Amino acid sequence: MSEPRTRRLVAGMVGGGAGADIGKTHRYAMRLDDQFELTSGVFGRDRQGSLGLAADLGIAEDRSYRDYAEMAAAEAVRPDGADVVVVATPNDSHFDIARAFLEAGISVVCEKPLTRDSDTAAELVRLAAENNAILAVPHCYSAYAMVRHAARMVRDGDLGRVTFVDVEHASGWAATPLEEHGHKQARWRTNPDIAGFPSVVGDLGTHAYHLLRYITGLDADRVSGRLNTLVPGRRVFDHATVELELTGGVPARLWASMAAAGHNHGLRIRVFGDKGSLEWQHEDPHHLTIQDLDGATTVLTHGLSTLSEDATRLTRVGLGHPEGFLEAFANFYRDLADILRARRDGTPLPSRELTIPTGIDGLLGVRFVEAVAASHHRDAAWVSPGSTAQPGSTAQPGASIQKAGI
Ligand SMILES: NC(=O)c1ccc[n+]([C@@H]2O[C@H](COP(=O)([O-])OP(=O)(O)OC[C@H]3O[C@@H](n4cnc5c(N)ncnc54)[C@H](O)[C@@H]3O)[C@@H](O)[C@H]2O)c1
Repeated sequence: MSEPRTRRLVAGMVGGGAGADIGKTHRYAMRLDDQFELTSGVFGRDRQGSLGLAADLGIAEDRSYRDYAEMAAAEAVRPDGADVVVVATPNDSHFDIARAFLEAGISVVCEKPLTRDSDTAAELVRLAAENNAILAVPHCYSAYAMVRHAARMVRDGDLGRVTFVDVEHASGWAATPLEEHGHKQARWRTNPDIAGFPSVVGDLGTHAYHLLRYITGLDADRVSGRLNTLVPGRRVFDHATVELELTGGVPARLWASMAAAGHNHGLRIRVFGDKGSLEWQHEDPHHLTIQDLDGATTVLTHGLSTLSEDATRLTRVGLGHPEGFLEAFANFYRDLADILRARRDGTPLPSRELTIPTGIDGLLGVRFVEAVAASHHRDAAWVSPGSTAQPGSTAQPGASIQKAGI
């Protein structure tokens, strides 16, 4: 059961404008459990674009600020000011923006890599402590239920003594020179002034390193890294292979790449111990594979009643449903919203061939139940469920919806 709450937490955002990548993910995520209300922001450097998105998000004009400095000053003195601000801008601006809010006593969720050098990162950590503010970094892979379970298993000694860790975040998203063709995210990630020369290490290596640390509880005592540029002409390193020596001399290997041709997201970790091993992959996040010393394999699944409390408290959908189930419901409501809005505003209904099921689909379902029951009563005789209309998925959505009477 969720804890009682008197009011939702007040959130702001810097970055995450139209066409931006990760800002919208933060916004969706904050809405899911309904604990945050986004009430202020600077959604990009372009004032008109920022105002437009703020209006779409229902943010009052006086809280759609010109820049982060104005926002920090104003939100700090409002009685209903931001409890937390999300910084979802490219890497070179994280420090200045996060500092402005922390100095104003406002907590910050700052995207990774936290800053471009450890002095400024340490400065943010210091400012957060000094101003009694929270500073969080969304290495969100550690928030998967099965990653939490993996971390619990290692801590509980289920794998025995950790002997070796192999982690990779080897993605193929930039295996071609996208930056030369105007790709927004590739442009800044391959600009050394914004992303730094070891770009892929900051971008993907930090996620892989955090995942390794999170699951094993071990840190790197020393590393031996090799950086390469696989895409000719690229101005930053897009490929990194790193040997690590973890706490207690445990060896590890980390591979980060944005040029691993054909790979999708490519985040995977394997942890070996003297009693067995585990493996988790981001592209199959609701499974955790465990192998014992004899090689017998157990696949643990998100939602199992036998998982640790660490995993269970993060499980919203039942066994057999992947996390994507919630998104499927969100997609249903998105299509429904388009239709309801068109009716409300008197604008044409969306002309998509594939849209939501309607009352007609419900009717056909009920007729099917009746036909199956009737057939059963007649010793499995053939019975036609009958059909007066096409399902909403194949007819004009408008027509289907009108007939269904919703
Ligand atoms: N945690 C994750 O899994 C994850 C995933 C993707 C990106 N990121 C991180 O998120 C950050 C943003 O990446 P992205 O891919 O979304 O970039 P992006 O280029 O798609 O979006 C950046 C946004 O910030 C805005 N912006 C830039 N400077 C600003 C400023 N001074 N004030 C207000 N807005 C400003 C841009 O207009 C744009 O809307 C990066 O640090 C990246 O490393 C994290």
